[in-house]
Amino acid sequence: MKRFLITGASRGIGRAIALKLAAPGVMLLLHGRDIGALAETCRAAERTGAKTAKLIHDLAIFRGIDDLVAEVGHEPIDLLVNNAGIAVVKPFAEITRQEWEQTIGVNVTAPFFLIQCFAPRMPPGSSIVNILSIVAKTAYPNWSIYCGSKFALEGLSNAIREELRSRKVRMLNIYPAATDTDIWNAVSGEWPREQMMSAADVADAVAFAINRPPAVIIENVTLSNTAGSL
Ligand SMILES: NC(=O)c1ccc[n+]([C@@H]2O[C@H](COP(=O)([O-])OP(=O)(O)OC[C@H]3O[C@@H](n4cnc5c(N)ncnc54)[C@H](OP(=O)(O)O)[C@@H]3O)[C@@H](O)[C@H]2O)c1
Repeated sequence: MKRFLITGASRGIGRAIALKLAAPGVMLLLHGRDIGALAETCRAAERTGAKTAKLIHDLAIFRGIDDLVAEVGHEPIDLLVNNAGIAVVKPFAEITRQEWEQTIGVNVTAPFFLIQCFAPRMPPGSSIVNILSIVAKTAYPNWSIYCGSKFALEGLSNAIREELRSRKVRMLNIYPAATDTDIWNAVSGEWPREQMMSAADVADAVAFAINRPPAVIIENVTLSNTAGSL
């Protein structure tokens, strides 16, 4: 049975990826903090024949990362999707130390240490997917800490990809443009949610990329919108 670990699977893009990959013969190790929302993802995934396990941990702190790793156990995983993320959007002068710690913790530290922990045990042809953002390539005013976290994860990912080549473990970076999920609820301003991509659009791209032949790495996937930058 294939074992897929997806962080932030309780809603949004992570949930869509879980449902896209749910199939008989797949064990989905689904992480989140919201127990009810994660249970809903699990129920929907089980309807298409997957087995599921719920992993409830706060990835902003090392204790949560360690507990997640312990709960996944020593059996190898075939896919790690680093999807959990937060977006604090405000002028850089107003960013608090707590917001810095939370954002760097969830968006950078957790993915790095999950890769460090799981990659050595992943079999050849397996994949690590990092859900980055177009802001990992383009900077916008008021998005400094979010941009910084995604730029940082991109740099880590690109370097680690080279270390993993000899083991044939594939590192994939996904760069979605604006996608209609709850992450926008906390972003002030008017955003045209109806023009955004759907989480399912991003999940489709992830499924396509990881399902290439084992020796092929689709290193970078940028998903933009025909409506332009929203
Ligand atoms: N939506 C976009 O426009 C967009 C575009 C490009 C990239 N992205 C990236 O896509 C990823 C998913 O975002 P989304 O849009 O699907 O957002 P979302 O709907 O807000 O979902 C965020 C997920 O991250 C989890 N999470 C947040 N803080 C956490 C913490 N401290 N510990 C553990 N889990 C935590 C949430 O879990 P709980 O709800 O259970 O707490 C949730 O499952 C993020 O990395 C985001 O940066 C999003």
